[in-house]
Amino acid sequence: MKRIIIEGNKRLSGKIKIGGAKNSVVALIPAAILANDIVKISNVPNISDKDALVEILNLLNVKVEKQTGIIEIDSKNIKNCVIPEDLSSKLRASYYFMGALLARFKKVEMYFPGGCNIGSRPIDLHLKGFEALGATIKKEDSKYLIEAKELKGSDIFLDFASVGATINIMIAATMAKGITKIKNAAREAEISNIAELLNNMGAKITGAGTDEITIEGVKKMHSAEVKVIPDRIEAGTYIIMGALLGDNLVVEGMIPEHNIVLLNKLQEMGVNFKLQNHKIILNKSGNLRPTNVRTVVYPGFPTDLGQPIAVLLTQANGISLFEETIWENRMGHVKYLNMMGANIVAERQHAKIIGPTKLHGAEITATDLRAGAALVTAGLIAEGTTIINDAEHILRGYERIISKLSSVGANIKIVEI
Ligand code: UD1
Repeated sequence: MKRIIIEGNKRLSGKIKIGGAKNSVVALIPAAILANDIVKISNVPNISDKDALVEILNLLNVKVEKQTGIIEIDSKNIKNCVIPEDLSSKLRASYYFMGALLARFKKVEMYFPGGCNIGSRPIDLHLKGFEALGATIKKEDSKYLIEAKELKGSDIFLDFASVGATINIMIAATMAKGITKIKNAAREAEISNIAELLNNMGAKITGAGTDEITIEGVKKMHSAEVKVIPDRIEAGTYIIMGALLGDNLVVEGMIPEHNIVLLNKLQEMGVNFKLQNHKIILNKSGNLRPTNVRTVVYPGFPTDLGQPIAVLLTQANGISLFEETIWENRMGHVKYLNMMGANIVAERQHAKIIGPTKLHGAEITATDLRAGAALVTAGLIAEGTTIINDAEHILRGYERIISKLSSVGANIKIVEI
């Protein structure tokens, strides 16, 4: 087990550079196998979720060349085979191999994907989309066999604007015969990044980033390059840390428009920040006002920042109300924040955060990736030593978090026990 140890209450100053988006790269890597050629992805973050996908590429006999921040994927000798549970269960995004292998081979056999335990996480919308394209699905225990004689374009209406289903159906439809329209599509910035790669590879996709995506099927995909967009959730997490502890902390290499809702919230709370092109300069703010936060689909307040912002709300003067509308089990951080001195009353998807409360160090556990990010944030502002167990969750999505935070003045280390 990995454990993060923090000696808290140190101001943060200097620069933190944001890496490539986790939620983009985990779809770009599977999408790359649509070409019978080399696809180059740059600005790749150094996160363990990416490594888990590379293991699946190795299994499929796909050649992978890695340099710092760059990955070249050569699928000329790809072989379709069953993706076993020990690989599929390492991360949620393994499910993008369903869409990709279906497009390339018209057949995919794999086990149910894994990922953070933040809710039931069904994949029914992905499967309905594949069926609408002409695939049949057989499920035996947790193994899926998805195959099609031919994939045909179709009009697909998503009951919910699911990020995963939108991307998976978009990938599967790129080489289907005819035109596919995904209606009520998710609009996340990452979806446009995936469409950008697919279009660079020869696909004909329009409307990515809006709620209706049109995919005109093409016969073949070819070699291409793409750059991963900056990670808006990583940026948001460091921005929140800067609001709590910044001494001219600069968060750079981000796209401010992707974090506009967070920035509006911070403004409402009286956070001291200055925006300059692709960077933001933050200073600890004395008198924070409480606010209400409700997580919703993009471009609303992101569920992935719901847990980190809870820590900021513990420092506001008064009562803040929080509602999580996407995942039913995303309050794993609350118990531990309360152990550290916070005053949060949570019931199911609602929380009342009563501030301000001084936090003190404690031994706590990261229950999932973003809960882990919240606990690191809490440890940074706490008096004394915080020990975070199960820190592996955090490394799934925050590249070099220890060195990034150490370089701006945090006293933080990771140990293996
Ligand atoms: C992605 C992100 C995750 C983020 C989430 C919501 C990746 C790898 N992960 O997850 O960080 O928290 O978007 O912004 O990009 N649902 C169904 N049926 C389905 C699919 C989803 O009912 O087939 C439901 C889910 O249970 C959940 C909601 O839709 O309640 C949102 O899920 P979705 O947008 O698909 O999230 P992910 O793509 O898994």
